[in-house]
Amino acid sequence: MLGIFSLWTYRNTTKTTRMPKETMKDQRLLPLYNKSGLPETPQQIPKKPGDTPQQTHPRRVYIETYGCQMNVSDSELMAGILTQSGHQTVTHIDDADVVLVNTCAIRENAETKVINRLQHLNHRKRRQPELIIGVCGCMAQHLRDRLLEAAPYVDLVMGPDAYRNLPIALDSLIRDEEAHISLKDRDPFLGLRLDKTEDYADIAPIRKDGIRAWLTIQRGCDKMCTFCIVPFVRGRERSIPLKLLVEDVQKLVDQGFKEVVLLGQTVNSYHDNGSDFGDLLFAVGEVNGLERVRFTSPHPADATDSMIEAMASSATVCKHLHLPLQSGSTTVLERMRRTYTAEEYRTLVAKLRERIPNIALSTDIIVGFCGETDEEFEQTYRMMADIRYDSAFMFKYSEREGTLAHKALPDDVPETVKGQRLKQIIELQEQIAADINTAAIGRTVTVLVEGESRRDADKYHGKTDSFKTTVFPKVDSKIGDVVNVCVDSTTAHTLIGQIIDG
Ligand code: 5AD
Repeated sequence: MLGIFSLWTYRNTTKTTRMPKETMKDQRLLPLYNKSGLPETPQQIPKKPGDTPQQTHPRRVYIETYGCQMNVSDSELMAGILTQSGHQTVTHIDDADVVLVNTCAIRENAETKVINRLQHLNHRKRRQPELIIGVCGCMAQHLRDRLLEAAPYVDLVMGPDAYRNLPIALDSLIRDEEAHISLKDRDPFLGLRLDKTEDYADIAPIRKDGIRAWLTIQRGCDKMCTFCIVPFVRGRERSIPLKLLVEDVQKLVDQGFKEVVLLGQTVNSYHDNGSDFGDLLFAVGEVNGLERVRFTSPHPADATDSMIEAMASSATVCKHLHLPLQSGSTTVLERMRRTYTAEEYRTLVAKLRERIPNIALSTDIIVGFCGETDEEFEQTYRMMADIRYDSAFMFKYSEREGTLAHKALPDDVPETVKGQRLKQIIELQEQIAADINTAAIGRTVTVLVEGESRRDADKYHGKTDSFKTTVFPKVDSKIGDVVNVCVDSTTAHTLIGQIIDG
């Protein structure tokens, strides 16, 4: 679910005088400190692109992204903030003076991967001592001081609500460097306050050109699932105003994007002044020139009739829903605090399939959650077999410090049992996905052409409305076209076919 992309959009390019309230907010946002005394007093933090002080010491910044699509979108935001203040983002690490690692904390292995990567970056820093290494995102927020114990060579630690401070932090680090203050002799910059009003709505992300653009419509999460670290590292839920989002989508279309993916931790709990997620979907679907809109990830408890109606009736809204189940057992769902029962989920799926007959469904599953019995696991297995998802992301439960489960529920399912259960559902899901794909042979699917196939320069690849990768000979098509492809064969996860006349 990853990648990085480009465009300049300005919500507001006019210079504005900063209001006292914003100054107060800026001060709250400035937990930056530094042994060498810089900066003791809060500095002006750019609130609008036009306000941004230009860097006198521009640096080349390489941003490396781990984790979910929201992190990809945050990296685009960071690129926007940095570029606006005069820095330059680069696509090769060898060209960089600054490396920012945008991290994920969702499972332990995500954090382990980053620690290993940081060790590798430390080797690079030994060869290039002025290299600035920053850790941003969820893991920065989650591990805080412990990250600095594990990686004491890190210069900058910044959580998801503090990215406005990046230029100031870099500026200070650069000034230290120029004053020959060794990185060893000072504390790193920390920006770890969560700010429930920060939505970056005025910041113009920088995306790579392409067909699909990711657009954050909401930040944070209020759901408090017991297994999940997100509310603790991304803070409370906040939605970006609908009017701004519709304007953004129009700008994205004007830039050449054909598809927009709306992003939020529980994207369908979006609300703005009486408008809900269904209203937003409708409004975005109406944007002139947009071929497709998708969204991820919704929460089943917020799958309202308004959302279903927008999906059913707007031709632009793709008929694919990623609907995280997590567990097919009501007792496990209760322990997870998912706020729905297995029966309610089944009813929702039935309703979706009745209203949108060809809807493709995908899901997230966690096996081995605290206290999960064989019977509870079997309920998940049966539910997956009954619903027959097009695809699924499947995980072993990974205890996260700070979550409600960590505080109240023992992580008592043995690792081997977690492994066996995971294996069982992966095998089931592979079979279901293969059967669904095989059933598509002989059918015609509509594909948005995204790019050249990695394996064959004579072929293009793209996604169907249901988000299936499809590969076909280029013939008379070009990137950005919507073509009809008759499927003639499949691999485990791909449809293969030929373009036919509409
Ligand atoms: N352990 C395992 N999987 C998790 N997820 C979230 N938290 C955990 C955890 N502690 C999974 C959920 C979620 C997806 C993004 O990651 O399935 O939907």
